Amino acid sequence: MTAVQEFTGVFRAEHRQVRDLLLELVRAFGDRDAGRARTLIAAVAEATGPHIRYEEEAMCPQLTGIFGDAYVGKLLANHDGAIRNARELLWLAGHDELTDEQARRGAELTRQILPHVSDCDGLTMMVETLPDDTAGRILSARKAALDAGLDLLTWAATARDRRA
Ligand SMILES: [Fe+2]
Repeated sequence: MTAVQEFTGVFRAEHRQVRDLLLELVRAFGDRDAGRARTLIAAVAEATGPHIRYEEEAMCPQLTGIFGDAYVGKLLANHDGAIRNARELLWLAGHDELTDEQARRGAELTRQILPHVSDCDGLTMMVETLPDDTAGRILSARKAALDAGLDLLTWAATARDRRA
C-alpha cells in the first residue's frame, strides 16, 4: 500500500467519525440533553484536535502549491471558526438544563461545522497528486499529533500558531 492510499483511508475514517459525532450532537441538542451534548463535544474535541493539527502542520502547507495562499488561508479560517464554535458549544452544554434557544443555538453551531468535514474530505483529491513521500510526511505528522493527544481547545490555546 502506498502512503497516499494509507492517508486516504485514515483521512476518510476520521471524517466519518467526526461526521457521526456531529450528527449525534445535533440530535442531543434537539432532545435538549445537555449531559449527552457534553459527552459528544468532548469526543469531537478529542478527535478533531490531532486531526486539525496535522492538517495545519503538514497537509495545508503542501496544498499552497496547488491552490495558492488564498484558498489555504480559507481552510485555516474555517478551522478558526470550528474552534470558536467548539468553545461556544462547550459553554452551552455546561448548563444543567438547556432552554429552547440554547438548544437551537447548539444545533446551529454544530451544523455550521458539518460542511467543513465533507469539504475537507475532498482535499484527498489534491493530496493524491503529491509525491508519495509527502503523503508519508503527513502520516508522520498525524502520528505525532495523535501521540501528543491535545484536544481541539487545548491545542488551539497552546501549540497552535494561530489564534482563533
Ligand atoms: Fe479534515
